Amino acid sequence: MCKIAILTSGGDAPGMNAAIRAAQRSALHHNCKLFAVQDAFKGLVDGKIRPFSRDDVARIINRGGTILGSVRYPEFKRKDVQKLAAQRMKSFGIDKLIIIGGGGSFRGGRELVNDDIEVVGIPATIDNDVPSTDYAIGFHTAVNTAVQSIDRLRDTSDSHQRCSVVEVMGRDCGDLALFSGIASGSEIVVTPETGYDEAGIIENVKEAFKRNKRHAIVVITENMTDVGSLARKIEDRSGFETRATVLGHVQRGGSPDAFDRVLATRMAHQAVANLKHGQGSAVLGLKGNDIITHAFQDALDMEKEPLDEHFTLIRELKE
Ligand code: F6P
Repeated sequence: MCKIAILTSGGDAPGMNAAIRAAQRSALHHNCKLFAVQDAFKGLVDGKIRPFSRDDVARIINRGGTILGSVRYPEFKRKDVQKLAAQRMKSFGIDKLIIIGGGGSFRGGRELVNDDIEVVGIPATIDNDVPSTDYAIGFHTAVNTAVQSIDRLRDTSDSHQRCSVVEVMGRDCGDLALFSGIASGSEIVVTPETGYDEAGIIENVKEAFKRNKRHAIVVITENMTDVGSLARKIEDRSGFETRATVLGHVQRGGSPDAFDRVLATRMAHQAVANLKHGQGSAVLGLKGNDIITHAFQDALDMEKEPLDEHFTLIRELKE
């Protein structure tokens, strides 16, 4: 019997549950047995592995977060801990694993691959920083969440003729700031790819108000600066009242949008099919409208392509 374990790892992302559900349904279709691993790699090491039934995944397609839980587990960088995880799986007679998570989670799975576990990675992270896919599960929903918040901030900024600095997540990747900046019509987008030019940001804010705008929105990726202190500098040097907002973990929660549910369902069905047919360890991706398969190590070696066209949009369409 084909036995497959499934876990979610890294920061949770909307749509992880839709992927878990689809994997269970797909396992039934392919006559495989699915085993749920609770609490990511830590759960694997601790042997928190249980058979998963159809009922376990009922009514979760629309739920945010992950019913399997996720744990940051730095110990999993250690080879001996990784080997223990592989042994645990084998003690359950399981040698196939689906990892739903981001790049860090897939790197965690590498040693399992070396230990003859067949692993398929499904990219799911609001950061969208997995190079092997155009979009990771959860990104679209997080963009929508950020855009709704920025739209609200614009209402109040416009009323008071203020500048708003909005920090979004993304870790080292600017996609969330870039997409939410474009979709909200924000004046200034600052990401790891654009770099941090404080004088340039302040100049842009001044220009926006010179053009008689009643507001200016600066969207910035986390970890680039202290946004509270940036807001104070903008206010001091531009003369316009400025407030800072950190969107934080609200961006991770919420019901997945239809795009993420469809993407999750397609990828999970593909992952189970790959494992059923023994096609080897891989990381899945969306390229255009196709679900594609990268050999596991190839996916880890890839670099993310810069979204030049999107950055050009921001520059050229600045009002
Ligand atoms: O990787 C997803 C993410 O939300 C990043 O955007 C952010 O930097 C990080 O996780 C936050 O991690 P934690 O939830 O452990 O604070």
